[in-house]
Amino acid sequence: MSQYPALRLRRTRASAWSRRLHAETVITPADLIWPLFVTEGTDEEPIAALPGVSRWGLNGIVARAREARDLGIPCLALFPNTPAGLRTEDGREATNPDNLMCRAIRAIKDAVPEIGVLTDVALDPYTSHGHDGIVDAAGYVLNDETSAVLTEQALVQAAAGADIVAPSDMMDGRVGQIREALEEAGHRNVQIMAYAAKYASGFYGPFRDAVGSRGLLKGDKKTYQMDPANAEEALREVSLDLSEGADSVMVKPGLPYLDIILRVKNAFEVPVFAYQVSGEYAMIEAAAAVGAGDREVLVLETLLAFKRAGCSGVLSYHAPLAARLLGA
Ligand code: PBG
Repeated sequence: MSQYPALRLRRTRASAWSRRLHAETVITPADLIWPLFVTEGTDEEPIAALPGVSRWGLNGIVARAREARDLGIPCLALFPNTPAGLRTEDGREATNPDNLMCRAIRAIKDAVPEIGVLTDVALDPYTSHGHDGIVDAAGYVLNDETSAVLTEQALVQAAAGADIVAPSDMMDGRVGQIREALEEAGHRNVQIMAYAAKYASGFYGPFRDAVGSRGLLKGDKKTYQMDPANAEEALREVSLDLSEGADSVMVKPGLPYLDIILRVKNAFEVPVFAYQVSGEYAMIEAAAAVGAGDREVLVLETLLAFKRAGCSGVLSYHAPLAARLLGA
């Protein structure tokens, strides 16, 4: 092996063309999934905790779908802000085939059929207590009862035109039940992206504002979402979801869990996605706002890190900005 001075690793870094030639990882607009919030309102509703992100009515959401298509973003992830009057203890609005989510899916699929639509399967935007499932008298989220409702929810989303259903609730056994129900209903090509390793994280705060569940949430989600201390358990979660029929798996949040992404990719060699969540977005925006970092540099560097760790793609609120920067 050659040594300094014959060997100089700075040689290949000395010019832009050479750095491009030697890049081991690339990020392109095709690696991005854009999470979007839907409202019953008709006006754009800015979300204070997520500067630069808004909730959109149906016209606005269709406009965002066109924008995504024009930017080369292949897929959108939708989250509804359900009006308070439709939130109940059991979150039943989740299974209404005409709920806000289903109307948004249909509007997008009618106008921009070539874009992928990913839908969140969980009850938190529909429950009066903000939990992802049905709670008992003691406040415990019931697993099997919740899974049954989630399966119905996934079916109405698929019937409305969802291309990927993404259970984000962390109940045991729900991927298998949803897969079976999708097959029975003839939705053979509807994919399941399992939020397989989803941690009970402090980084979801702004999202809960966006879907209107922050003030409602009683307690925390630690009896169903994972303990941030655990990595081996993440591999077990991924393994189970894959055995139940998940087409791809997600790790969430993103950057604090790059080690999990790498371990999952090494262990299973399946498509892995990361969710760069609302708190991560807010941190970058806060850094940019005080001049602690350059927004564009931070966005592209963090997205590249997910690819380097082994991700097939990333859900990020910065998707349109990144796509614009990468397309230029
Ligand atoms: C709910 C859900 C959450 C997110 C996606 N789906 C919040 C939670 O689990 O409390 C968070 C996304 C984000 O913070 O951007 N099932």
